[in-house]
Amino acid sequence: MDIKIYLKEKRELVDAFLKKYFGSPVLPAILSDPMAYSIFAGGKRIRPVLALASYEACGGTADEIVPFASALELIHTYSLIHDDLPAMDNDDLRRGKPTSHKVFGEGMAILAGDALLTEAFYFLSSHSHHASGIRSSAVLKIIREVAMAAGAHGMVAGQAEDIQAEGAVQNSENLSFIHTHKTGALITVSVRMGAILANAEKRRIASLTRYGENIGLAFQIIDDILDIRGDSAELGKPAGSDERKKKLTYPGLYGIDPSMRKAEELVQGALDALGDFSHKAGPLREIARYILQRTN
Ligand code: IPE
Ligand code: IPE
Ligand code: MG
Ligand code: MG
Ligand code: MG
Repeated sequence: MDIKIYLKEKRELVDAFLKKYFGSPVLPAILSDPMAYSIFAGGKRIRPVLALASYEACGGTADEIVPFASALELIHTYSLIHDDLPAMDNDDLRRGKPTSHKVFGEGMAILAGDALLTEAFYFLSSHSHHASGIRSSAVLKIIREVAMAAGAHGMVAGQAEDIQAEGAVQNSENLSFIHTHKTGALITVSVRMGAILANAEKRRIASLTRYGENIGLAFQIIDDILDIRGDSAELGKPAGSDERKKKLTYPGLYGIDPSMRKAEELVQGALDALGDFSHKAGPLREIARYILQRTN
């Protein structure tokens, strides 16, 4: 299988759903304009694609859970808008375009982020899928888990530690907390979402969780490396941002090569976690490998 084609097909499924949603006049334009600006600026959609691929690995058909998977992209996009604000990473470029606050002003950027986050929970709680056999209890479980992963138990806690650690003495425990929370938590819950909605056995959910935790941390280590090695035009965001803000990062603490080896080990751990899965987990395996090779 060609992972690039798989990623493109699944990204298009998510985009078609989001286009339809933002294309119908359900939201006041004052907010839907900045929300849509960031949503359609060109993200990889890796989190919703992971949810779809995990659902397929557990025997489901991706189309059935697109609204749930898309909610993850709303949360992720909100986190990027806020991450770029002057009070946080203070970056001007995101997904190849000027950041939200540069176009709409800080107030509207904050509010667009707030609205995307809240809308995600509206998505998760509005789509009943009796036809495909998704249980209400599974939907309730993922709403709870996504809340845990996105908020004060997860991503927001990681972001708080991230800004607190700027310029501070480098500390490996802190670094691991930051990366597993600010990035790992949402990636892990994306993978768990697919498995829970597919009503997978506990043992399988546990394996997929281990896969998610491994690729989640690898994803942020590679993000840190790309911040040093990548170029802004290809990244679609400013290279060198971490150095400028004196961020606590893997390459900053351990060097680029040891960080790359750590990411490779984590990806191997993710592949090992899928040992019992059939060819239906092929896309998940390829996504894990892709994370090491990505250039944006
Ligand atoms: C960037 O995420 C922020 C991190 C958590 C590392 P992505 O690399 O998934 O960004 P997009 O969605 O493709 O723009
Ligand atoms: C961001 O980490 C993690 C988020 C939760 C948004 P970074 O600050 O390294 O992400 P980029 O490099 O700006 O995309
Ligand atoms: Mg940041
Ligand atoms: Mg940033
Ligand atoms: Mg970064």
